[in-house]
Amino acid sequence: MDLLIPDKTHDESRQGEALVLEPNGKNNGRKLYIESYGCAMNFSDSEIVASILADKGFETTSDYNNADVIFINTCSIRENAETRVRNRLKEFAGAKGKNPGMVVGVLGCMAERLKSKFLEEEKLVDVVVGPDAYRDLPNLIERVDEGQRAVNVLLSREETYADINPVRLNSNGINAFVSIMRGCDNMCSFCVVPFTRGRERSRDAYSIVAECQGLFDRGYREVTLLGQNVDSYKWSNEVEHVNFANLLEMVALISPELRVRFSTSHPKDITDEVLYTIAKYDNICNYIHLPVQSGNSRILDLMNRTYDRDWYMERVDAIRRIIPDCAISTDIITGFCTETEEEHNDTLTMMDYVQYDYAYMFMYSERPGTLAAKRYADDIPEPIKAIRLKQVVAKQQQNSYVRLQQHVGRIEKVLIEGFSKKSDQDYCGRNDKNAMVVFPVQEGYKPGQYANVLVERCTTATLIGKIVA
Ligand code: 5AD
Ligand code: SF4
Repeated sequence: MDLLIPDKTHDESRQGEALVLEPNGKNNGRKLYIESYGCAMNFSDSEIVASILADKGFETTSDYNNADVIFINTCSIRENAETRVRNRLKEFAGAKGKNPGMVVGVLGCMAERLKSKFLEEEKLVDVVVGPDAYRDLPNLIERVDEGQRAVNVLLSREETYADINPVRLNSNGINAFVSIMRGCDNMCSFCVVPFTRGRERSRDAYSIVAECQGLFDRGYREVTLLGQNVDSYKWSNEVEHVNFANLLEMVALISPELRVRFSTSHPKDITDEVLYTIAKYDNICNYIHLPVQSGNSRILDLMNRTYDRDWYMERVDAIRRIIPDCAISTDIITGFCTETEEEHNDTLTMMDYVQYDYAYMFMYSERPGTLAAKRYADDIPEPIKAIRLKQVVAKQQQNSYVRLQQHVGRIEKVLIEGFSKKSDQDYCGRNDKNAMVVFPVQEGYKPGQYANVLVERCTTATLIGKIVA
């Protein structure tokens, strides 16, 4: 088997430069199909990949059977995310059987975690490319065209793809993700991300503002600024230092008509300055995703989250004080190593305290190579993890409903995103707290515009109302 050794273009000192290949038209019209799993960052990365390949003549397609290149952008965060990707690869085998010239590539976190092992395990796969090596894709595809199999999983300390203007995939032309930083330095003990996405680095603030301005000029009305830990964003040039609060302000100032969202905030790093900035600008959405993971201080310590229960509660109090009408969502893991019933109850009481609007809830899944995998036994039996997860989910369903009901009777500013899933007589969109709102289509209102909607009732997941002048 031929493996490609990454070439000089991956010299760290050259990261950030555009990769210039000899111009040739041989890729013109070749079709790229790209599918993303896992977090929003992966969806955003796929748009960067599409842009790098569009520069080389590739067009995107939504039908993998007609594709010349199939890429699957993978997630390693839990074992079941990886299982899903393996199953999907089996489905691609049929398409490749019919078109032997087809290139199949694995991108993202699983590529980084498994490296060339992937090629041994999955005979179908031709290319394995980690999250910092996407500029090398045109080269790697060329190698595959020449009959080799290729790997580039070098991580970088500098790569932010700052200069790349992402091609928007499956876009409604209204909301877009904008990556503001990459990697993570936190080393939460359960998490594989620091190993798959490398060291934390922040993107040039002006390239972020330029990208958001470009989106606004093309009619987009909502940007979500993405990073594993946005509160540790920091970027400087000779004259200024830009922290996350400053960046939020810079983006918010593009236009009051541009909504600004962001994810993910870290409880140890979210500052009052960020909260005051959110409070100051109407177009920065009153919505904070603040993963708690556990409500118990001993477990938080084992998780290496570097805050405890009291600290987290204080940050929630600060949000409530500074932004009185703010939605908060979270991530929760049940059955982390050595978690007792009592400690699990602390997570439930934390949920009572915060009354989260939404939550993403998971059973602990041990990931090879993480600190927890090395240090602690994964000793909570699966059925106990599942019971605890069920309790957490049940509590969240109650809380989500209570939170949604609080909107009933209010007039909410909704950004219209399109027709509702169920009927083209109804529009759907979100209020600034990220709640989905459905209301009858009314003349004079189009997707991409804001509407004031009187919320008349709600289901367990949706607000229902009508436009008021
Ligand atoms: N097991 C279960 N959930 C995990 N997460 C991250 N790693 C794991 C793991 N090993 C969850 C965390 C994180 C979210 C993105 O995924 O809650 O915030
Ligand atoms: Fe993983 Fe923790 Fe970094 Fe989030 S902050 S990506 S959970 S290491």
